[in-house]
Amino acid sequence: MPKITFIELEAQAEHILDAEVGMSLMEVARNGGIAGIPGDCGGACICGTCHVHIAQAWRERIGPATDIEVATMEFSEDVRPESRLGCQIRITDDLDGLVVTVPSS
Ligand code: FES
Repeated sequence: MPKITFIELEAQAEHILDAEVGMSLMEVARNGGIAGIPGDCGGACICGTCHVHIAQAWRERIGPATDIEVATMEFSEDVRPESRLGCQIRITDDLDGLVVTVPSS
């Protein structure tokens, strides 16, 4: 089971969660009680409340945000080149060790 590290900037906390293959990163965060990732639209890519920053070492493997993600993040705060929407990232075994940061908002 891949392990994903979530760093919560506001709480200055780090959580390592077991992630089920096939779930989205947003679902892993929500199930694990990560603050700042409510996933209000349930993964439909319309709310932007699953915004995360991908750690530098993982950016190439995860890839850039799609056009629809970029449009959805238009009103999000602290959008960077490493920004992605967690609902659009599907957990695979290859993502074991992934590190993401939850932006302050
Ligand atoms: S959960 Fe709404 S955009 Fe990801």
